[in-house]
Amino acid sequence: MKTKQTIAIIGASGNMGSAIAKSLSKGNYRLLLYTENTDKVQPVIKEIHAVNPSADVEAMPCSMHASWEADIIIVAVPYNAEKNIAEKIKEVANQKIVISIANPLNNTFNGLVTTPDTSAAEELQQLLPHAKVIKAFNTTFAQDFASPVIDGKKVDAFIAGNDEEALETVAALVNTIGFNPVIAGDLSVSRTLENMQLLLIQLGLKYNYNWHAGWKILHN
Ligand SMILES: NC(=O)c1ccc[n+]([C@@H]2O[C@H](COP(=O)([O-])OP(=O)(O)OC[C@H]3O[C@@H](n4cnc5c(N)ncnc54)[C@H](OP(=O)(O)O)[C@@H]3O)[C@@H](O)[C@H]2O)c1
Repeated sequence: MKTKQTIAIIGASGNMGSAIAKSLSKGNYRLLLYTENTDKVQPVIKEIHAVNPSADVEAMPCSMHASWEADIIIVAVPYNAEKNIAEKIKEVANQKIVISIANPLNNTFNGLVTTPDTSAAEELQQLLPHAKVIKAFNTTFAQDFASPVIDGKKVDAFIAGNDEEALETVAALVNTIGFNPVIAGDLSVSRTLENMQLLLIQLGLKYNYNWHAGWKILHN
């Protein structure tokens, strides 16, 4: 049996952090849930234990400590909070997989605040130069996690990064959650992935889609 990986989720009380935690609790992972106010992750832990009493999940009072214990760190905070988190975990993130899920949307959700020659994921990589930053889960809505199959098809979850082994590890994690992992390219492909979710949000608003929506590449 494969060694159990430890995953720290920073921002585990949020829509995405809690959805990822609940989905990953179905797999063979040890989950460390961090948010500033530890009380806010207790309902998430309670929900996980109601479904799976033996799930290996605990609240952590410190992002640095959670990241130090982790093999994989998922940064599930808003884009504008990433710099602050990166400063806190920098010393303990070396050589670890750090998953960037952020979409750097502007306040009116009709554009990105990043310039076209970069992405939230690449900025996070600059802040954590010795970590293996992987883009994942930015093209899936929090609402998709409870049911990653839409219209009879597994939603695609795109992944980008520069380290082949880390990409495969994250693809396995995406698969555990129930999405169809699609390794899309190196970390610069995050620019496209972040724009894809901007487009999906815009289309959702324009055509009144609900938030249980996602991307699927159709092929033979
Ligand atoms: N929602 C989606 O469907 C979706 C889809 C794809 C990607 N994303 C990306 O996922 C990330 C999280 O989105 P979300 O919708 O889950 O947001 P959310 O529900 O607002 O949750 C944000 C989480 O980050 C924490 N947080 C907020 N500001 C912080 C700060 N300054 N320092 C440390 N922690 C902070 C929050 O803690 P508190 O509970 O204490 O406020 C909460 O745990 C964003 O980058 C977003 O672009 C979201």
